Amino acid sequence: MRILVVCLGNICRSPIAEGLFRKRILEQNLPWEVDSAGTGSWHIGEMPDHRSVSVCRSKGLDISGQRARQIRMEDFYHFDRILAMDQANEDHLLKMRPDDARARVSKMLDFIDPDGQLEVPDPYWDGRFHEVYELLDDAVEKAVDSFMANQSQDV
Ligand code: 4NP
Repeated sequence: MRILVVCLGNICRSPIAEGLFRKRILEQNLPWEVDSAGTGSWHIGEMPDHRSVSVCRSKGLDISGQRARQIRMEDFYHFDRILAMDQANEDHLLKMRPDDARARVSKMLDFIDPDGQLEVPDPYWDGRFHEVYELLDDAVEKAVDSFMANQSQDV
């Protein structure tokens, strides 16, 4: 299972989601890969926003080694699932997605909101980093459960 989480800048939301996936993958000893990317190019090469680093550190999660990158076409062939933080990110990804892509594109919060309405709010300007962390912690747990259930059905 290869999972890519995507937001706008790849410095606030998707680095937290990547860290949470990485933690659960390690804890559950799953042979899965996770990465994150942004739809925009402004922050390429930067480490996560200090507020994302700080909220994760307060929960025992170190995401300071991550560096921002932008989504690229190869991602649509490499990853199985690409999870967007909000509707604008998903729209961007669906426009880019080639017809013969491997990756299925959907929204991160679909795992806790089957109606597909919920978005992860962008905390860059309003500082809602704790809220974002809690939302993502819940959604990542449900996503891992869902992927594991689907994989065991395939066997
Ligand atoms: P992210 O947050 O998409 O969660 O990484 C943002 C980071 C930077 C900007 C906007 C959102 N920006 O406008 O630079």
